[in-house]
Amino acid sequence: MPPINPFTPEFGSVPLVMAGRESIKRELFEAFAQGRGNPNLSSILIGPRGSGKTALLTYLAKEAAEDGWVAVHVVAMPGMLEDIYEQTRLACQKVLGKREATLPQLTGLGVGPISASWSTSPTAAENWRTRMGRLLQTLEDANLGLLITVDEVVPSLDEMVNLAAVYQLFVREQRRVALVMAGLPHNISALLNDKSVSFLRRAQQHKLGIIPDADVRNAFKETVAIGGRDVTDDALDSCTRAIGGYPYMLQLVGFRCWQASELSGTISAAEARQGAADAQEDFRSHILAPTYRELSDVDLRFIEAMLEDTKESRIADIAQRMGVESRYASKYRGRLLAGGVIDQVARGVVRFALPGFRAYVEEELGA
Ligand SMILES: Nc1ncnc2c1ncn2[C@@H]1O[C@H](COP(=O)(O)OP(=O)(O)O)[C@@H](O)[C@H]1O
Ligand SMILES: [Mg+2]
Repeated sequence: MPPINPFTPEFGSVPLVMAGRESIKRELFEAFAQGRGNPNLSSILIGPRGSGKTALLTYLAKEAAEDGWVAVHVVAMPGMLEDIYEQTRLACQKVLGKREATLPQLTGLGVGPISASWSTSPTAAENWRTRMGRLLQTLEDANLGLLITVDEVVPSLDEMVNLAAVYQLFVREQRRVALVMAGLPHNISALLNDKSVSFLRRAQQHKLGIIPDADVRNAFKETVAIGGRDVTDDALDSCTRAIGGYPYMLQLVGFRCWQASELSGTISAAEARQGAADAQEDFRSHILAPTYRELSDVDLRFIEAMLEDTKESRIADIAQRMGVESRYASKYRGRLLAGGVIDQVARGVVRFALPGFRAYVEEELGA
């Protein structure tokens, strides 16, 4: 049996070795250790697709467990609040072995053949806040806190607003709660612009940007070593270059280099070249191609208008090149921002969010 590939180019998996992210980790560990009152207990992780948001949420939650935090993970979508409640209830049950949490309660008596309805969910008279409050108390009695993580935050969800409001009340009541959210830059800024969640604007924002080359290099080397192989300095240099500080790419390049070194057992220049080329191809087919395919005709015209600039584009210029009014161009900007295709650099200035997307589009358009 060849040694198992230690790289994990799969969305949401926690990498064997996490490159960089030191300061975010430190700040959040401190917060979990300190508990109540630490501002980082309300945090938002912001970054493009593949920057490691989901992986970091999972990782942080695991670490928080050491400090007495029970974590529940949800994705921002309808039903999220009930999901948080259900998971918290199950977590209470698991952690405390409480029987009353499992026992069904008689919720209503009727007439006819189906005369009684049994349910594990509480009566309708109790709202979410009350029910959650009780679970929080149960946890607190056992000296535990509750960490809620919300992934893939979208701005247009009522339940997000409700969660923020109730969470704020829990904080005021001095409950042991933490809320760590994650989302694409555009979705986070749209959410924070909503007046009804002003509380969230005070949450600590952590941007998951490009990882420094030195950290990428170390993590790559360490992952290979844990897997039981070697990598030469040359190979490390060229892999680091191919990765460009992008976490998902680190996993792809590593995964492919590992495969290329199946026979030799060492990643040297040849294996690195092969691995980087294969990874580039994966990235094209898994990320760039589907992103491109999802673009509408007008999206494409917007993108095409961006190609004339070398790095960043002004909306005003794009509109002019498209021969439309800025307002119209802004509507398409919104779609592309929400889809993580472009990023807003400054007011009225955008750029491509995914590495290599510009080149891909140019190729597709034969430009
Ligand atoms: N700091 C990191 N170092 C190395 N690999 C990472 C890091 N963060 C994430 N990854 C890897 O990158 C990929 C994308 O991570 P993921 O958390 O799914 O990104 P996002 O949720 O931001 O789209 C996964 O394969 C994951 O294992
Ligand atoms: Mg994710």
